[in-house]
Amino acid sequence: MIPLAIMFVLFAGLQFLSPEITNPPVTSDLKVPHEVQTILKNSCYDCHSNQTNLSWYDKVAPVSWLVAQHIKDGRSGLNFSNWDALSPADQKAKLWESVNQVYLGAMPLGSYTLAHPKAKLSQKDIKVLKDYIWSLRINNIPQDTAKIKELHKQSALVIKQETAAKHPITSNGIEYIADYKNWAVVSTTQRLYNGTMRIIYGNNIAIKAIKEKNIDFWPDGSILAKAAYDEIEDADGNISHGAFKQVEFMIKDHKKYKKTNGWGFARFKTTELVPFGKNADFVIDCMNCHQPMKNNDYVFTLPIRQ
Ligand code: HEC
Ligand code: HEC
Repeated sequence: MIPLAIMFVLFAGLQFLSPEITNPPVTSDLKVPHEVQTILKNSCYDCHSNQTNLSWYDKVAPVSWLVAQHIKDGRSGLNFSNWDALSPADQKAKLWESVNQVYLGAMPLGSYTLAHPKAKLSQKDIKVLKDYIWSLRINNIPQDTAKIKELHKQSALVIKQETAAKHPITSNGIEYIADYKNWAVVSTTQRLYNGTMRIIYGNNIAIKAIKEKNIDFWPDGSILAKAAYDEIEDADGNISHGAFKQVEFMIKDHKKYKKTNGWGFARFKTTELVPFGKNADFVIDCMNCHQPMKNNDYVFTLPIRQ
């Protein structure tokens, strides 16, 4: 047994090695409705802002090392104090991801709420976040028909191979669906990864399910399409489509595609629409990457349910 006195000295000595946790200046704080911000401040700002407000016990080594690491990692992935450094599209994406993390119980970190029970979100808090995020999402469906038509015209222009009347089929037996460009746009994602712009479309069944908030399990017949384009930014920062890269489909049929979580996956690359995947095993990659969205029926887009 180490005598208590020695342990005390070691513990006290440890404090000199405790990392310093600093608060760099806030360049642009998150701009969301007050009630949303209050919740995030209360539950997330200690690790995701430059307004960290720690308790004395967070500053005691060895706990302080863990806390400092969490703050470093937390700020690097998401920092509400440098909010304007993100493009509007990325801001939205981070907010969706945030609410999704809360919804899945991954955030705030469990080790943190254990010591800071007040940071736990109530069901009411979660509802406030979800309502807010849902309002963003619906607005993100372009309501303006002229704009939708324009988007479709642009896609139609880039994908010329339709005129060649090809019917490519993937190795798991899914035929290219040319009509997707006439579907409603569910969302567009820009600049999340370098240089590509994605447009996500839903067929009528999918759109109906979204409107009725019936997407815990997307109904059979729902199809989501994700088309990727190079992204072109002009001198004024306006973003438009460049070359078409690929289109992917997820087709819901809980019986037919039982082995792949109820979804039929397909990808067609380049304007030649070359089916992706030498054999049907390619779907394993699709499934693995969509696996984190298991609680959301494997769909990334519209991750928030009411
Ligand atoms: C105790 C510190 C801590 C708190 C409090 C906390 N987080 Fe985190 N958060 C982290 C850490 C650490 C990571 C990086 C985790 C990783 O990379 O596995 C992270 C990652 C994230 C990410 C992913 C960021 C990325 O890389 O894109 C999101 C989103 C997120 N947190 C949201 C939240 C939200 C919303 C809250 C409040 C409801 C919250 N976090 C509270 C520590 C925290
Ligand atoms: C590296 C990870 C990854 C792989 C591999 C992957 N996806 Fe995705 N997929 C995503 C992400 C992330 C999104 C969300 C939209 C975005 O950010 O582009 C997405 C979105 C989609 C969507 C729109 C619906 C939704 O979930 O939001 C479809 C359709 C899709 N993917 C099909 C496929 C197909 C088919 C494959 C395999 C050929 C595949 N994906 C492989 C990450 C992946």
